[in-house]
Amino acid sequence: MSRAIEARGLSKKYRVKKRQGFLKSTVEVIEALRGVSFRVDYGEVVGLLGPNGAGKTTTIKILATLLLPDEGEAYVAGYNVVREPGRVRENIGLMLTVERGFYGKLTGRENLEYFAALYGLEREYAERRIDYLLKLLELDNLGGDYKLFEEFSLGMRARLSLARALLSNAPVLLLDEPTLGLDPPSARKIRELVKKLAHEEKKAVLYTTHNMFEAEIVCDRILLINKGQVVASGTPRELKAKLPRLKVLSLTLRGGSKEKLQSTMRDLGLKHEVQEENDLYSVKVHVQKPEEVFNEVVKRLISSGFDLVSARVEEPTLEDVFIYFSEVSA
Ligand SMILES: Nc1ncnc2c1ncn2[C@@H]1O[C@H](COP(=O)(O)OP(=O)(O)OP(=O)(O)O)[C@@H](O)[C@H]1O
Ligand SMILES: [Mg+2]
Repeated sequence: MSRAIEARGLSKKYRVKKRQGFLKSTVEVIEALRGVSFRVDYGEVVGLLGPNGAGKTTTIKILATLLLPDEGEAYVAGYNVVREPGRVRENIGLMLTVERGFYGKLTGRENLEYFAALYGLEREYAERRIDYLLKLLELDNLGGDYKLFEEFSLGMRARLSLARALLSNAPVLLLDEPTLGLDPPSARKIRELVKKLAHEEKKAVLYTTHNMFEAEIVCDRILLINKGQVVASGTPRELKAKLPRLKVLSLTLRGGSKEKLQSTMRDLGLKHEVQEENDLYSVKVHVQKPEEVFNEVVKRLISSGFDLVSARVEEPTLEDVFIYFSEVSA
């Protein structure tokens, strides 16, 4: 079987008119993508993780044949996104953040029926599939059968968008921030469903998010994207292992003053953060080998009048990785 998604050196520039005063305007060129390459296989969820404006939606739109790349090429289900857009569309389920195309005066079910007809799905199959999807996304309980789309809550709209992306049972799913604006239980539900679709039904999922916590839970592999470039990639674990400062020595202390604590830590010359909460201080020391500094740090703190309440070594979070690579690529 061919690869689900293959992107090679994708570049995209947007040209925007920038008004300068009343009559003058200049054209500004925004480099949304600057040579993005990656692949996604069937059976995995790959996360495109990056801050606002990184180029996530632009990537999804190129793969969905909604935008043409300026340079590079991309294949979805083995088809070229520029030369075979019809074939590509037959093989994708697409969910965009800004929902368009639903009819406010139709119910959730009727909207899905409309899209099923548009996609050329056979009537009986479509009805069965719609029943299944309304149940799967728990829209049946929320009134998806009789409420008009314009009466849908944000969470219901997101669920209906995902249902639409799943209508044709396409092998490749392109999901642009599918949990944006959802409450935690709904977001969790969608994340679990996405994982199941990949791991059990062997779909290929490209999943964009700016939420590190989410990427870590949902994605088998992550591409960190910033300013139109992939700055790092790997499993959540591998990404964390790429951090030069590997560990965080986390101490909780009592007694003394914050000033004294800060001056003691400064004297030790280690990179650290201090936080105060109630009568406790939390100190995070970033070091490669915590075991080598542990004794010295604790000895100095105790002799400065602090009591040690707890100490542990923590793995860096994906957030640390994200900040590190964003700084490196800036
Ligand atoms: N239609 C457009 N016209 C002009 N510039 C655009 C257009 N769409 C996106 N851009 C610009 O391209 C860059 C990448 O945008 P994109 O929407 O791909 O980012 P994103 O990673 O999806 O961000 P977000 O997390 O905010 O959704 C941004 O600088 C954005 O302002
Ligand atoms: Mg976006």
